[in-house]
Amino acid sequence: MSQAATLRRPGAENSFAMEVSSGLGLEQKAISSTWLYDQRGSELFEEITELAEYYPTRSELALFRDHLPAFGAAFGRHASVIEIGAGSSRKTRLLLQALRSPYAYFPIDISADFLFEAVGRLQEEFPQVRCTPVVADFTDAAALAAVARRLSTVGPALGFFPGSTLGNFEPHAAQRLLGQLAHALGDKGALVIGIDSTADPDVLLPAYDDARGVTAAFNLNLLARINRELGGTFRLDTFAHEARFDAMHSRIEMHLVSRIAQRVLVLGKTYFFQAGETIHTENSHKFRRTHFLEMARAAGWISQEVWSHHTSGFEVHVLGRGAAIPKVLSQGD
Ligand SMILES: C[S@@+](CC[C@H](N)C(=O)[O-])C[C@H]1O[C@@H](n2cnc3c(N)ncnc32)[C@H](O)[C@@H]1O
Repeated sequence: MSQAATLRRPGAENSFAMEVSSGLGLEQKAISSTWLYDQRGSELFEEITELAEYYPTRSELALFRDHLPAFGAAFGRHASVIEIGAGSSRKTRLLLQALRSPYAYFPIDISADFLFEAVGRLQEEFPQVRCTPVVADFTDAAALAAVARRLSTVGPALGFFPGSTLGNFEPHAAQRLLGQLAHALGDKGALVIGIDSTADPDVLLPAYDDARGVTAAFNLNLLARINRELGGTFRLDTFAHEARFDAMHSRIEMHLVSRIAQRVLVLGKTYFFQAGETIHTENSHKFRRTHFLEMARAAGWISQEVWSHHTSGFEVHVLGRGAAIPKVLSQGD
């Protein structure tokens, strides 16, 4: 991988400033979870994935270990892989090991330095795969189209979207993103995507509010980022992390709760907080299988296989564009 081989979409800094100013002006203050991921945020997220309480990564890795070898052996040779929200690319190793002579790898992520470091390590392990990190917002259809134009025609296109990151989107936006991916990957493309459907609050709440406080640090880091990048005056000790389960919307929400009434300056503008008022910083929707498959179908995908974890509600879906009779395989099958 060379720096010259990277793709970078400009404007992320401006988007951050715009989203923070508009989000803090809402009646329910809200900032998209995308902005939790600066370098420190990405490092903290990696720590979260190692926590005893955080079942999604463990469950998904178990499913990948069980099912990727057979999937990779049957998938076409010389695949070009696009990974959506690649993070540390830890799960990618299992995919690249399983595929037959993978040709190219395009990881897309907003967290630039973390992405470059991760892909640098991966490139050393897989010198034969042409790795091109793409610093961009994966919801930007033009960014996806730019990557799609670089896909090789030597082998099939494969989208890889682990981590249940799709759950960060409201259902209508999740469906739109699935449609954009179908368009970018083309008629012969396939998508391997992790979806969490866990519904038990006793499992969910500790996973998003762990005993060691790593998730709290991850959430509060957003305020440190605003202070550093946008001249904010947030005092982090006056805010607390909170995870809430919203049963009606089947989602976990993360909030930053102001412990006191206060005013905060960001980009020269003053924002007021009542004691107990919150900034909503993340949604993690837990899509039931039928709901996810409805969205996928409406977005142009056809279910090929479902890999289902035997204890948690985590599933990996293999989607294609051609007709298939879906198979449901449990871990250990
Ligand atoms: C929940 S983490 C998942 C990381 C990794 N795929 C995994 O399975 O552990 C979400 C990842 O998506 C990235 N991300 C979030 N929103 C993004 C966006 N709109 N565009 C590009 N990357 C984004 C974050 O930087 C982070 O690496």
